[in-house]
Amino acid sequence: MTLTITNIKRSNSDKTETVTLENGVIKGWNIPAEGETIDGQGGTLAPALIELHAHLREPGQTEKEDLASGLAAAAAGGYGTVVCMPNTVPVIDDPAIVRSLIQKANGLGFARLHPAAALTKGQNGETLAELSYLKDAGAVMFTDDGRTNENARVLWLGLEYAGSLGMVVSVHAEDASLRADGVMNEGPVSEALGLPGNPAAAEAARVARDLEILAGLHAQGSGAHLHIQHLSTARALELVRGAKARGLNVTCEVCPHHLTLTDEALRGFDAIYKVAPPLRTQRDADALLEGLKDGTVDCIATDHAPHTRAEKERDLLDAPSGIAYIELAFPLMYTRFGGDLGLDKLLDLMTAGPARLMGWPAPSLEAGAPADLVVLDLETEREVSPAEFKSKAKFTPWAGEMLRGWPLLTVVGGQVAYRRE
Ligand code: DOR
Repeated sequence: MTLTITNIKRSNSDKTETVTLENGVIKGWNIPAEGETIDGQGGTLAPALIELHAHLREPGQTEKEDLASGLAAAAAGGYGTVVCMPNTVPVIDDPAIVRSLIQKANGLGFARLHPAAALTKGQNGETLAELSYLKDAGAVMFTDDGRTNENARVLWLGLEYAGSLGMVVSVHAEDASLRADGVMNEGPVSEALGLPGNPAAAEAARVARDLEILAGLHAQGSGAHLHIQHLSTARALELVRGAKARGLNVTCEVCPHHLTLTDEALRGFDAIYKVAPPLRTQRDADALLEGLKDGTVDCIATDHAPHTRAEKERDLLDAPSGIAYIELAFPLMYTRFGGDLGLDKLLDLMTAGPARLMGWPAPSLEAGAPADLVVLDLETEREVSPAEFKSKAKFTPWAGEMLRGWPLLTVVGGQVAYRRE
């Protein structure tokens, strides 16, 4: 299959070019057009985005999302690769589930799927899952995300074992007893609203513990790799910065919702803003942005966490946590921070950054590189219109906002995975 995309630019260039794709790779630039031709409408060509943290809810919670809706949504958001989280029903802790998800996703023609598997059986936090078999089946990381790893010894053993397999362990870093039943950031806003708070210290304390576990393993010669998910506080970021300076094999991700929203959003008591870890303060968001700039943060991940509208319409105490917005993550980041970060840095945080920490080949636009590509319209402002989402969660905190940077075309393995009508 041959495909030529005409009328595209590379980032920070005004030159209009053509790229030809064949057999899943980039065949060449500005060569005579072959096969089907698609007009790139003057958009900017970049490697397709890589998402290391999405909840696609399959198996078992397909009223919230499924592989088809979630991977179609990802492709519409410019993503060519998605790592899905294992907090499903049943939990992805069995090699047969990993294999069946990969097989099903391959037939869909949207973004590629790489499942994360649970670190512990049933995400029970107590018994390690069969990590080696899960890796052989195609799992790319281990995590009990959605739950916290309360048993430090189990995390120690999991990091050590996964490290020996060359695999990343990613953690939802919150101390469960300190978080208690907090439903939002603990501070003046939670006090004003009379809602139970979840203090920044719950995240920082857990990050501090996990970094000590990692340091202890490294001292014994382990190559363990700890990845901290959805980092939300200035203090936890500071701890990661210090650990990196000491040479620890730690990486972290930050989510657009923690960069663009604060606990002030909860003043209307709308559970659409309920997420774990919670929306913090402007000071935290500013610190996270600094972390993106100075390299402390390795990548941007969305934690796309769809729930049904009925669930999110419950009151703040009862509604489940999670914000779903994989389709608008790039436009949101580009519109809010493109000027500050620069396009190349932003793309790095959403393509090469995640690839680097996973040990995957660096995404490239050179001939011979995999044809996983996105064409971005960096000029046209368009309204966020949830009714058009491919995700089953057709609501979002950013509904009605005008954003720039929308994907026009996403190509995965040389095939069209999304094209804006
Ligand atoms: O807000 C969240 N929602 N945080 C998590 O860690 C889990 C996720 C979910 O599964 O809904």
